[in-house]
Amino acid sequence: MTTTPGSPVFTLLPAWSAHEGAERVRTLFEATFGAPATGVWSAPGRVNLIGEHTDYNGGLCLPIALEHRCYAALSRRTDTLVRLVSAQGDGEVWEIDLADVSPGAVTGWGAYVAGVAWALREAGHDVTGFEGAVDSCVPFGAGLSSSASLEAAFAIAIDDIAGLGLGADDAGRSTLVAACVRAENEIAGAATGGMDQAASLRARDGYALALDCLDGSVHHEPFDPAGYELLVIDTRAPHELNDGQYASRRATCDAAAEVLGVATLREWLDAGTDLETSLAAALGRLVDDTTRRRVRHVLTEIDRTRAAFAAMQAGDWGTFGLLMDASHASLRDDYEVTVRELDLAVEAARTAGAIGARMTGGGFGGSAIALVPAGTSAAVATAVVGAFVAAGLREPAFLTSRAAGPAA
Ligand code: GLA
Repeated sequence: MTTTPGSPVFTLLPAWSAHEGAERVRTLFEATFGAPATGVWSAPGRVNLIGEHTDYNGGLCLPIALEHRCYAALSRRTDTLVRLVSAQGDGEVWEIDLADVSPGAVTGWGAYVAGVAWALREAGHDVTGFEGAVDSCVPFGAGLSSSASLEAAFAIAIDDIAGLGLGADDAGRSTLVAACVRAENEIAGAATGGMDQAASLRARDGYALALDCLDGSVHHEPFDPAGYELLVIDTRAPHELNDGQYASRRATCDAAAEVLGVATLREWLDAGTDLETSLAAALGRLVDDTTRRRVRHVLTEIDRTRAAFAAMQAGDWGTFGLLMDASHASLRDDYEVTVRELDLAVEAARTAGAIGARMTGGGFGGSAIALVPAGTSAAVATAVVGAFVAAGLREPAFLTSRAAGPAA
């Protein structure tokens, strides 16, 4: 990608080659632990094309795995000690005994890793301690699943060194997803919904992952938007999912479902004949205005995701783009999880020629995605930077990616 002379230069965050990622963690491992690692594993970050804040409502989402991956070099220990080093850290070794891992007891980034080993042990698997070195080109805190890719890289690595064989098929990978979700919810303390871990462990190279969060079933749909390409805009606005806002959205949805007498809002939607009927019936029963808007987002977003999936299958990217726009508006106005940077990124990308744009992931900062005519990513990125500079905001960074492969 190049920039036009005279235009603002933009930062492109490239994905490492598998070789580069592996070399980095091998070197870090050996320098830290004094012996070569047994092997190297890696797992991707993700962008969700559409279907946001639906996963914990039993809904649908449509992520792709990114070429950007988290790499982990590991060696098994015979005891239960976990010793970790991160290239993103201060060089200190983070250490815990698996016997000491329990909800509320672990602090620091190692919670995401030790939590996975803990959850697998809780599920009855024979998992020992290990030494691990980690490095990642998934931008941290950008809403692109840096934490889920960390969990998934270790999940697949632990699976391998412990000889569990779960990574061999989709059913086993679903078990690894469940362990990662428990690690994140119970040990790291972020009440997230599971889409990110599923994308990282269950995606397929070249395909979008149509994930049904009611029963965990998946369908792989080729992601090849002929004539278009996907531009990811990391707004660099601070992004944190365990600061209470995400959990409060989730609690509102759970409470609404309870009032409606269903386990998930998805079941309420499906019990009606169509979106309009289900929505009107729900709004008739819910009194609180905020709750009504949150529920309206969830029900319409599940419906949009169905429509987007059909548009993807039909190769109708124009419709797909309009659904992305509508998704963003709903997340901005009804779900209230966007921030100024996300709205500006979407608006500027649209003005510069994107046929659809929306925030992706949890929101409250993080990244946006734009579907742009092939070959125009540099021009759109330049325009977005220009809009941020004009607004006095910190410059965003950019990624491009095809639909990449899962943890391996
Ligand atoms: C974050 C969470 C996911 C999902 C999205 C919103 O990425 O980790 O589980 O809820 O937000 O769609």
